[in-house]
Amino acid sequence: MKLLHIDSSILGANSASRQLTAEAVAEWRRQHPQAQVDYLDLAIDTPDHFGTDALGVKLGQQAEASEAQRAQNEQSERLLTQFLAADVLVIGAPLYNFGIPSQLKVWIDRLAQPGRTFSYTANGPVGLAGGKTLIVVSTRGGKYPDEGPMAPTDRLYMQQMFGFMGISDVRFVRADGLAMGGDARAAAFAQARDDIQAAIEPASVVA
Ligand SMILES: Cc1cc2nc3c(=O)[nH]c(=O)nc-3n(C[C@H](O)[C@H](O)[C@H](O)COP(=O)(O)O)c2cc1C
Repeated sequence: MKLLHIDSSILGANSASRQLTAEAVAEWRRQHPQAQVDYLDLAIDTPDHFGTDALGVKLGQQAEASEAQRAQNEQSERLLTQFLAADVLVIGAPLYNFGIPSQLKVWIDRLAQPGRTFSYTANGPVGLAGGKTLIVVSTRGGKYPDEGPMAPTDRLYMQQMFGFMGISDVRFVRADGLAMGGDARAAAFAQARDDIQAAIEPASVVA
């Protein structure tokens, strides 16, 4: 069983999500000692912005691809192959400006490929990357309602995009109010640690 551990926080050693993804992965390994762990740090190895040259991979332009398109396609292919190989994903997804970090967004942009992770049929879209477990470690400085104009987009977006690609087993680890003072930060970590235990209980064996 392969686990892909991903961080996207730009806060380095001060990052809450980095600490919590590490704890979640450690807990998963404790429950599943045979797991092989791969690691991707999107704040360091940030994929290029998904632009015109990168779109070639989606339009099937490989045959007459330019040098720039070939380089972009290679980048997409490397990330997609790594993603598809994973049985379990633990993704740190901090809230930045009411959404996910752009570093995480560009990675997702490279995964969403017709014929590889989704396809459109007469009955609508079908996800092709199912059968994976996704654990989203979601950290927020504040606390917000789930709905309405001030509801952040981070959690819904992760559920939408990975659901669109066929992943229905999405488990959230939530730490809210991290920037609201020491007591609130401690409570956020305590909540997140409870969520880790709930997300990675012994019954949730994948292989
Ligand atoms: C660039 C940036 C933007 C942020 N935007 C928000 C925001 O819109 N709402 C919020 O509640 N917290 C916001 N925060 C606070 C983070 O959500 C908080 O620091 C959280 O711990 C981030 O996870 P991390 O520590 O793993 O990076 C922002 C932080 C940064 C660095």
